[in-house]
Amino acid sequence: MPAARADHAESGRERPIGIFDSGIGGLTVLREIRRRLPAEPIVYFGDTARVPYGTKSKETITKFSIENVKFLQSFDVKMAVVACNTASSLSLETLKERFSMPVVGVIEPGARAAIACTRNGRVGVIGTKATIGSSAYEHCLKELRPSVKVYSQACPLFVPFVEEGWLEGGVVSEAARIYLEPLKTFGIDTLILGCTHYPLLSRVIQKIVGEHVRLVNSAEETAKEVRNRLPQSASIERPAGQAVRFYVSDEPEQFRTLGERFLGSPIHSVAKVADPFTEAALHV
Ligand code: DGL
Repeated sequence: MPAARADHAESGRERPIGIFDSGIGGLTVLREIRRRLPAEPIVYFGDTARVPYGTKSKETITKFSIENVKFLQSFDVKMAVVACNTASSLSLETLKERFSMPVVGVIEPGARAAIACTRNGRVGVIGTKATIGSSAYEHCLKELRPSVKVYSQACPLFVPFVEEGWLEGGVVSEAARIYLEPLKTFGIDTLILGCTHYPLLSRVIQKIVGEHVRLVNSAEETAKEVRNRLPQSASIERPAGQAVRFYVSDEPEQFRTLGERFLGSPIHSVAKVADPFTEAALHV
């Protein structure tokens, strides 16, 4: 185990929660977890060298996800949060089988919230091509309520818009209109934002689908799930404001500056891991 991580296990400090995403998007999930569990130490890994996942195959995404959890495991995390809709859609089952710690994804919490929300049983889902192609939300929604009608739409341009910092304006609104108008015609009353980046486009999305449509942010629901999965006594005895340690697989500075927008607060330091995948493979 590398020195930076060994100290953690040896000092007997509280084990952290591990969170991974393909890059910065998972910071929207981290933000919600921090809001609900400010006393939890957290290790966040953004796989910035291999983002985006949303255009890749199940096989590739599963391989990446296993490596990412192994990397988190080297910090002795007590839980792994898959803060990426694409990775949750395509690899969650494999991760749950493969690792003994609790592994929490974003699909089921989002689907549960949508079912609780809808009045007319017509739910829209938007996400990356891989997430929509997997039908993970649809399966989950139908398991929860077989009669629900699900209308899905991939919005592949939304991720690059957000990455560029384009959160509103002509081009963004026009793309959103093209993606979302068809969903409107189905009379949905609830729309799942099935991608980590989409909460940053909520204003534009809400304007197009109309105020009567409830937007479900998977990040909030996942944070509730994480809180529910921790033992009742956890977090109570520790002071709030525990540190978050950030790791990325590529250039840290870009992650830091753009990440602050996702997180809504400053990120002071981000470490680039020389080779997280080889390291992870070596330690587990
Ligand atoms: N984090 C991904 C998701 O939530 C979006 C970015 C990507 O394609 O990797 O689906």
